[in-house]
Amino acid sequence: MRAVGYRRNLPITDPESLLDLSLPVPEPGDHDLLVRVEAVSVNPVDVKQRAGSNPHGKPRVLGWDAAGIVERVGSAVTLFRPGDEVWYAGSITRSGTNAELHLVDERLAGPKPFSLSFAEAAALPLTSLTAWETLFDRLRLTSASTGTLLVLGAAGGVGSILVQLARQLTGLEVIGTASRPESRQWVLGRGAHRVAGHDDLPGGVDYIFTPHSAGMIPAFAKILRPYGEVVAIDEPPHLDLLPLKSKSIAWHWELMFTRALHDPASTAQHEILRQVAALVDKGVLHTTMTRRIDGITAAGMREAHAIVEAGSAIGKTVVSGF
Ligand SMILES: NC(=O)c1ccc[n+]([C@@H]2O[C@H](COP(=O)([O-])OP(=O)(O)OC[C@H]3O[C@@H](n4cnc5c(N)ncnc54)[C@H](OP(=O)(O)O)[C@@H]3O)[C@@H](O)[C@H]2O)c1
Repeated sequence: MRAVGYRRNLPITDPESLLDLSLPVPEPGDHDLLVRVEAVSVNPVDVKQRAGSNPHGKPRVLGWDAAGIVERVGSAVTLFRPGDEVWYAGSITRSGTNAELHLVDERLAGPKPFSLSFAEAAALPLTSLTAWETLFDRLRLTSASTGTLLVLGAAGGVGSILVQLARQLTGLEVIGTASRPESRQWVLGRGAHRVAGHDDLPGGVDYIFTPHSAGMIPAFAKILRPYGEVVAIDEPPHLDLLPLKSKSIAWHWELMFTRALHDPASTAQHEILRQVAALVDKGVLHTTMTRRIDGITAAGMREAHAIVEAGSAIGKTVVSGF
């Protein structure tokens, strides 16, 4: 089967940073789906792995977002059948989605929204899981929740769906940060009540979602109300949370891969993706795809990686079709 991967950590401008590969078709384990991948999206995790995780010359396939069709199922699979259309992010410990045929544990996959194309669907799984787990697992928000949520980097992949979920499924006032006219406009279009600059944060907020936490703790301590809560999804170096103590502010980590890494029997991500698909099909949530590159080839994936690596993406870049 065809796949795209890397053997060495190289800058994305190097033609060998991502390679066209021919790999054997993998055999499904008991709970696995073998999925014919129709579209994938690229996340910052792909860029970080390509740059920092050394496969020592062996081909490693990246990609943690896919929409496709179930081709075969393992002996213990109960949630899906061959022919079902699925979407998922999968597990960081397994070979990635940038392959014609890909294995995913059935408990990490959901039924793809029928109202979206494969490309439109592939934009959403990883970021929707991150945003959903942030709002409803870490912060335990409900439709009755009120107060103010500040979403940093609201035009980015995660922000673009988190703003929609918070606006549609909670009673919170949603303020997103963005730095450019086009990203501000996009954030308002996703449903934010207001937009602020990344360095011009409003005071009196109850919750902060942060994908850009480095150097921000003193500012968070200043603008959060007493007993406020922060959910961070990035890896800020030298983190000092002491400034948050005076207001008894809670700090949560959210890692979308925690369930795959530490709670493999959980069907929670299957359920989240099922609920997100239903909300998409009802017209409550919308795809965040803003760019589609045709052809899951090394050239197409290099183009998509370069866009994500630049750090100024609005919504999501999808790569579609082998
Ligand atoms: N823990 C997890 O499970 C998890 C899951 C997904 C992502 N992540 C991590 O979260 C981060 C964001 O991911 P993403 O997919 O949303 O990224 P992204 O799509 O690449 O984010 C791009 C956006 O970031 C904004 N931005 C740039 N610099 C900023 C700053 N200093 N402060 C606030 N916003 C800034 C830009 O807005 P403007 O153009 O308006 O400036 C742009 O719209 C990455 O580090 C990623 O690895 C973690």
